[in-house]
Amino acid sequence: MAIFGFGQMIQILKKNPKKIVFTEGTDARILEAASRLLASNFLHPILVGDEQAILEASEECGFNIRGGEIIDPKTFDRMDEMVEMYCELRKKKGVTPEQAREVLLNANYFGTMLIKLGLADALLGGATYSTADTVRPALQLIKTKPGNNIVSSVFILVRSRGTGDNEVLAMADCAINIRPTEDELVEIAIEAAECAKIFGVDPKVGFLSYSTFGSGEGEDVDKMRNAAAKTRIKAPDLAVEGELQFDAAVSPRVARTKCPESDIAGHVNTFVFPDISAGNIGYKIAQRLGGFEAYGPILLGLNAPVNDLSRGCNASEVYSMAIITAALA
Ligand SMILES: CC(C)(COP(=O)(O)OP(=O)(O)OC[C@H]1O[C@@H](n2cnc3c(N)ncnc32)[C@H](O)[C@@H]1OP(=O)(O)O)[C@@H](O)C(=O)NCCC(=O)NCCS
Repeated sequence: MAIFGFGQMIQILKKNPKKIVFTEGTDARILEAASRLLASNFLHPILVGDEQAILEASEECGFNIRGGEIIDPKTFDRMDEMVEMYCELRKKKGVTPEQAREVLLNANYFGTMLIKLGLADALLGGATYSTADTVRPALQLIKTKPGNNIVSSVFILVRSRGTGDNEVLAMADCAINIRPTEDELVEIAIEAAECAKIFGVDPKVGFLSYSTFGSGEGEDVDKMRNAAAKTRIKAPDLAVEGELQFDAAVSPRVARTKCPESDIAGHVNTFVFPDISAGNIGYKIAQRLGGFEAYGPILLGLNAPVNDLSRGCNASEVYSMAIITAALA
């Protein structure tokens, strides 16, 4: 299914092709996506790993990756330079060159450093590694962009309306910040809304809770209500409501009963969850029971585009996420 903006993303890449690192060079899904990218010629894949093993794996799965770049950390000819740069970036941690050399044999650290060295524009991993292992090098080495305090994430959910157009929603933060503070929720909401716009959503942000406008009480309710209020101050042009229960957020009928004074309740399309448990469970319910396709987690607030795949992903999702990741560069 084509998501809004997908065609435009490919057009952007055709005008300005990018290089994307795949840290799991022998994985069949990565090889299939890489072979599709090589055939379409607007996004150049770099596969990290042992060259022989990657070529054997591609032959075994029947995917042609001729013309793709393979870089093996064990034989990388600019390793000394990479080690020096890594030590400089981690000097506050007192990393020695020997430690750096060891760490850089790990594909996630190595791939992230390819971006720092200017040899790649973006990175996509996580088909076999956990989210934590995939994103930690980016948090440590790429860091947050100026003006941001945290890296967070958003899922873009897409479902056909059956009338030729798609329903597109954004959900955050379902993958990175385990227990975001009030101020972190403000940053998550603003970043998620910005990203939602790229996918054609006119964001109406709802801070989700088990309470609607004070129907319930508790610290978590206050946190969501206060975060909504702070977001309104920080981003006065953004449509924001909270705290809201999910039904009041999406159903105009329920919103008329529970919070008739709100124009946004009932029409929320950009959801901010109180914590990662709610967010992760929430987007998966939409995906598995609601018939939405889920794209993400798209990392927000990083200085360069690095994204994480779900370990349950298929080759088509890898291909789509590669295009989204590179286009965001
Ligand atoms: C993201 C995550 C991996 C970071 O955990 P961690 O590596 O243990 O975190 P640490 O506290 O050791 O921090 C490591 C570095 O990342 C930085 N960091 C951690 N979280 C960050 C964030 N949200 N934004 C920016 N930087 C962050 C730290 O400042 C630290 O930097 P430093 O080494 O330069 O001092 C962790 O929050 C996590 O596991 N989140 C949930 C992931 C998950 O399981 N998702 C569900 C599946 S999709």
